[in-house]
Amino acid sequence: MNKRINIAIDGPAGAGKSTVARKVADYLSFLYIDTGAMYRALTFKAIEKNVDLEDGPSLKLLLDKTVIDLQVGEKEQLVLIDHRNVTTEIRSSHVTNNVSFVARQSEVREEMVKRQKLLAERGGVVMDGRDIGTHVLPKSELKVFLSASVEERASRRYKELVDNGIEANYEQIKEEIALRDKRDTEREVAPLVKASDAIEIDTTTMTILEVVDHILQLAKERA
Ligand code: C5P
Repeated sequence: MNKRINIAIDGPAGAGKSTVARKVADYLSFLYIDTGAMYRALTFKAIEKNVDLEDGPSLKLLLDKTVIDLQVGEKEQLVLIDHRNVTTEIRSSHVTNNVSFVARQSEVREEMVKRQKLLAERGGVVMDGRDIGTHVLPKSELKVFLSASVEERASRRYKELVDNGIEANYEQIKEEIALRDKRDTEREVAPLVKASDAIEIDTTTMTILEVVDHILQLAKERA
């Protein structure tokens, strides 16, 4: 691809954004940036430091003292807070069920968006999240909104856990996903919404490779 475009991928929890975004980035030799991991990292540190998860100014102070690094690992993206690898810890259910409280604080979002814009400054980035097409990279050449039914998203998550030998409850997963979507969609600051110029892909009956191929085709057209 001759032009280093930026690709924004948004959508609700469990729509396959990170898997798809990483594959698209790999294929194009672009940089993959998982913005959800940044909010998760701050949430993890706030829990550890006993900072109130709804206290925006205190969270911002904590974020100012926090280095969040996303690195390319062999199988997955590595997430480091202050040079400590927390890739696994930030996926715990405790962090997952609390991250939306941290992510709805305007002070936190302002700083995160600043960092994310800097990362994408030179182009050649695939960034996934909730507000990438609407706020972080509103001028990105390609915006994709990935969706899937909540049942499908819950069963993908359930399967992933069971495949990894982790005990899981489908109904509970479905409820947690729906609740997180509700919080992300109904928040005041930069809620989860499809950008008016984003292309929606309903992945309910698609395989990961089909979704990746579709996005690569769109990227080719935009480059
Ligand atoms: O993408 P992931 O599910 O890991 O994101 C975790 C949480 O981080 C989301 O539920 C949302 O509350 C928050 N988030 C956000 N804006 C982004 C990415 C994630 O508010 N751009």
